[in-house]
Amino acid sequence: MGFDFKLKISNAAQLVVISKGKPFLIGKEMSNIEIIENGTMIVDEQGIIFDIGTYWEMEDKYKDKTFEKVLDCTGKSVLPGFVDGHTHPVFSGDRVHEFAMKLAGATYLDVHKAGGGIQFTISHTKSSTEDELYQLLIPRLNRMLKNGTTLIEAKSGYGLETETEMKMLKVLDRASKQFQGVEIVSTYLGGHAIPKGMNAAEATDDIINKQLPELKRLRDAGEISPSNIDVFLEKGFFEYDDTKRILQAGKDIGLECNFHGDELSYMKSGELAGELGCRAISHLEKVSEEGMKAMASTPTFAVLLPTTAYILRLECPPARRMIELGVPVALGSDFNPNAHCLSMPFVMNLACVLMKMNMNESLVAATLNAAASINKSSTHGSLEVGKFADLVILSANKWEHIIYEMVDPPISHVFKKGNLVFS
Ligand code: NIG
Ligand code: FE
Repeated sequence: MGFDFKLKISNAAQLVVISKGKPFLIGKEMSNIEIIENGTMIVDEQGIIFDIGTYWEMEDKYKDKTFEKVLDCTGKSVLPGFVDGHTHPVFSGDRVHEFAMKLAGATYLDVHKAGGGIQFTISHTKSSTEDELYQLLIPRLNRMLKNGTTLIEAKSGYGLETETEMKMLKVLDRASKQFQGVEIVSTYLGGHAIPKGMNAAEATDDIINKQLPELKRLRDAGEISPSNIDVFLEKGFFEYDDTKRILQAGKDIGLECNFHGDELSYMKSGELAGELGCRAISHLEKVSEEGMKAMASTPTFAVLLPTTAYILRLECPPARRMIELGVPVALGSDFNPNAHCLSMPFVMNLACVLMKMNMNESLVAATLNAAASINKSSTHGSLEVGKFADLVILSANKWEHIIYEMVDPPISHVFKKGNLVFS
């Protein structure tokens, strides 16, 4: 027998809508999230939110309807699935040994110069097959899911040459077709570091003349589906002019610019984003006032990554000033072998404690704004009629427990497009 609807989420103590009708929130709006107390939500067969309201009005309105599943959420809170705006989840090789070096005082660049860091991961990732990388990726996605993440931005970038970069994008494409719980928006990051034996100009030429044409060919053949292009704009890696050339070449083939900038040194990232019209910049620990103003007017999303500042003991990015200036702020875990974090609740906690964001701002940054940073906020990132029912159910009658209980908040269920994917 068919049902009228796929799912009814019934009588949640708090149903955290976030915001109605806005593609993203800036400034003071980030502190005013919309919440329905004693809320009920109806999800249709396609996994799309059909109706939301108070328990009393909805019970009456849908009393004659049938549901494939009803979840009584009395005493629980319901939040939108978390969106992780920046991850590097495809890699092989264990870098736990570097953690001890960093605790003993080595900087990110010290580890890199000693042949560790990105170069270590590159050599392992190159020698792994597509299938091995896929088998490593799936448990990572499952751990993200348990922590409430239902949509991620995921990068290549541990190949730095055509074959391995394309292999990584194929792994992401396969996961986005075969793994149901976490949706993936993929980003090509051939400019993550300078490959051994090349200088920056040669690496830039290789990206523009070899890697991007192959990416376009495979994308046109339906074998990969990158949406964005990323570069590590940093002293000794790709500097301003090379980064600009690479991003422009990506833009020319329809990729959106979403790059790493102003992390260890001030590199005029915000200014470059304003000039090129970029969608997002990550890190931004060293961004300038001018850069932030340019980002507010483009607008370019600031994807802040508090795990990196925490693990490398860096100064945090000026989140408060960004919000004051109207820069759209999003959050990401930066999951990678340097910052091994798969938990957006922990990221939100760090954003509050280390970057002085309030809990409402952190939640907006980890849902609606992170979705907007990857061009997905018309379908993801808030609990609104017409968007996908990606839901985190929390065993607490106040939603703030997701941030307050930092290490293992009581997530009881996760739904992806109305299907139960974790409980
Ligand atoms: O976002 N800063 C550059 N890239 C990564 C680190 C990658 C690595 O160390 O493997 C980041 O933190
Ligand atoms: Fe990163």
